[in-house]
Amino acid sequence: MSGGYLRRILEGRLSREELSRLPSGFQRIGHVAVLSLPPELWGKRKEIGEALLGKNGVRTVAVRRGGMEGRERRPSLEVVAGDPSTVTLHREHGCLFRLDPLRVMFSPGNLHERGRLPGLVRPGEVVVDLFAGVGQFSIPIARLARPSRVYAVELNPVAHAYLCENVRLNRVGGVVVPLLGDCEEVAPRGVADRVILGILHVTHRYLPLAGRVLRASGGFLHYHESVPASLRFSRPARRVKEAFPNREVEILGVREVKKYSPGVVHVVVDARVGPEGGAAF
Ligand SMILES: C[S@@+](CC[C@H](N)C(=O)[O-])C[C@H]1O[C@@H](n2cnc3c(N)ncnc32)[C@H](O)[C@@H]1O
Repeated sequence: MSGGYLRRILEGRLSREELSRLPSGFQRIGHVAVLSLPPELWGKRKEIGEALLGKNGVRTVAVRRGGMEGRERRPSLEVVAGDPSTVTLHREHGCLFRLDPLRVMFSPGNLHERGRLPGLVRPGEVVVDLFAGVGQFSIPIARLARPSRVYAVELNPVAHAYLCENVRLNRVGGVVVPLLGDCEEVAPRGVADRVILGILHVTHRYLPLAGRVLRASGGFLHYHESVPASLRFSRPARRVKEAFPNREVEILGVREVKKYSPGVVHVVVDARVGPEGGAAF
């Protein structure tokens, strides 16, 4: 939804100055609308929420109080209007996601990436999703591509429970294997044709693990990183290359997933890692 839309529905309820401060849009996760408001509009959050109720199926409005918290990336949201029940069913790319956006992370900004990955997976591949969340990447891959297995590793029991539910809802139980625990401990070794490292801030620390999860014959990595915009084409690709000094690494692409914060972008590096022992691809 565009900022123009928010302004239109709030005209007459906010001053001209306040209307000009409205965000450029809001996000929808199932029936929940999620808004980021500037501090000047914080006092008006309930009025803004009320105005959104009922529009295009919005039944609950929540505003962000801060960024994701902790290792489990818990959102910090406050419900300001509508149904206090925030467990929802989100439809996207022909997949269903049950989740509670107040308890688990689901980034609307990663929409394109969730739709892109299945197009890269070749029939019969084994995929390991090291930070699976509620199945944001594992579910579309299992539904829209033809992998033989997707191991979906998740540390947070709440996200893991939604992941298991989403496996059932999308009827991909024959393909997706949800694993509860720290990927350092529970991710299978030496099995993967493709490894997804879908987390930010700490991703580079898990590159050695991704190398052990790949087959000895090598495979593909999708490495996510939040990085100052000026370094987006250098640091993430360099980190991937440096993690495998004894293996051939081909950088296939660096793509911006979304703006992360002022001056910082979220990028994903697609890379191909060669066989162990330094043999060529
Ligand atoms: C930011 S969410 C991303 C989910 C999904 N990959 C995406 O990009 O939309 C990261 C998830 O990784 C989980 N996580 C963090 N550290 C982990 C670890 N060491 N092993 C397994 N899961 C982990 C968190 O609980 C969280 O659900």
